[in-house]
Amino acid sequence: MPHRVLVIGAGSIGERHIRCFLATRRAQVAVCEVNAQLCQNIAERYRAAGAFTSLEEGLDAGADLVVICTPAPLHIPMARAAVRTGAHVFIEKPLSTNWDGIAELEAEVQARQVLAGVAYVYRAHPALAAMREAIQDGRIGDPVEVVAQCGQHFPLYRPAYRNIYYNSRATGGGAVQDALTHIINAAEWLVGPVTRLVADLDHLVLEGVTVEDTVHVLTRHGNVMGSYSLNQHQAPNETTLTVIGTRGTARFEVHESRWRWMNAPGSTWIDEPIPGMARDTLFVLQADAFLDAVDGQSPLLCPLANARQTLAVNLAILQSAEQGTWVTPTLG
Ligand SMILES: NC(=O)c1ccc[n+]([C@@H]2O[C@H](COP(=O)([O-])OP(=O)(O)OC[C@H]3O[C@@H](n4cnc5c(N)ncnc54)[C@H](O)[C@@H]3O)[C@@H](O)[C@H]2O)c1
Repeated sequence: MPHRVLVIGAGSIGERHIRCFLATRRAQVAVCEVNAQLCQNIAERYRAAGAFTSLEEGLDAGADLVVICTPAPLHIPMARAAVRTGAHVFIEKPLSTNWDGIAELEAEVQARQVLAGVAYVYRAHPALAAMREAIQDGRIGDPVEVVAQCGQHFPLYRPAYRNIYYNSRATGGGAVQDALTHIINAAEWLVGPVTRLVADLDHLVLEGVTVEDTVHVLTRHGNVMGSYSLNQHQAPNETTLTVIGTRGTARFEVHESRWRWMNAPGSTWIDEPIPGMARDTLFVLQADAFLDAVDGQSPLLCPLANARQTLAVNLAILQSAEQGTWVTPTLG
């Protein structure tokens, strides 16, 4: 029997999840979208198993797994409603913009014995997973430093950026909650949680919004020193995440779909490419991984606890930039 999936919110990422869960061939997918015209269009395009314009109707129809693709302030209330029906929940990033209801969600997930994962999609990237395994196997010695350099021209990819959640921090917008959070979560997966940080950020270029489009952060992950820079306006679309160890260096290059490593000083990179990674491929891998977890075949890629930690970092970055001081991320 296919899994009965309900995708809530059929905007940019919701449509992608509908397409990519269907591509696993392990799911039938229903859609819940408050915009009735969009709901109908998407339901027809993907021959959805059901189409609903309210959360209550969608949940009443019955789903084994609910994928939450609405703006961040709705993630927790919607996840709690879904969990109360006994469904597993897969929540888009960021987990939320504050701590409201998160402890309650965790308690309800525990009580219902369902799964709750967060869609930090880099964890599904075979290059990042392979690099993590190599680091854990000691390929580069002990990690001592993590360096991320990231940028892309956001308006090229989201022309409507002025009119969506992105235009306000309260709805999950700005470079920190929208984009840097992916990189922080990936880095924490590689070298452990951020233990303190100091941040600088500004709105420099993007027209029609006032949220930050450029951010620099210095971190400590315990003894590991970190440095992150990200902007949402440069021409090149490039994201690199480098881990420097006592005996070598490993680098994840999203735009090249590979990771690479170098051990001998002054030698050349040894490339570990992952061919055939179209953008949807990553999301199909992520959908498959979540269904594997539901089927008891593997653990969740990003359980709630890891996303809570990254939420603490998001909020600490915003706080640090406001205060101009080092901040210790704290779980709410
Ligand atoms: N993982 C990724 O790569 C990635 C990419 C884009 C967005 N996201 C995240 O996904 C979330 C959604 O982003 P988006 O770009 O798809 O936004 P979007 O604005 O394109 O889509 C959101 C949709 O949710 C619908 N919606 C709002 N309230 C609803 C309700 N009560 N019931 C049903 N539908 C409702 C809206 O009508 C809209 O169609 C955000 O948290 C964002 O950060 C993640």
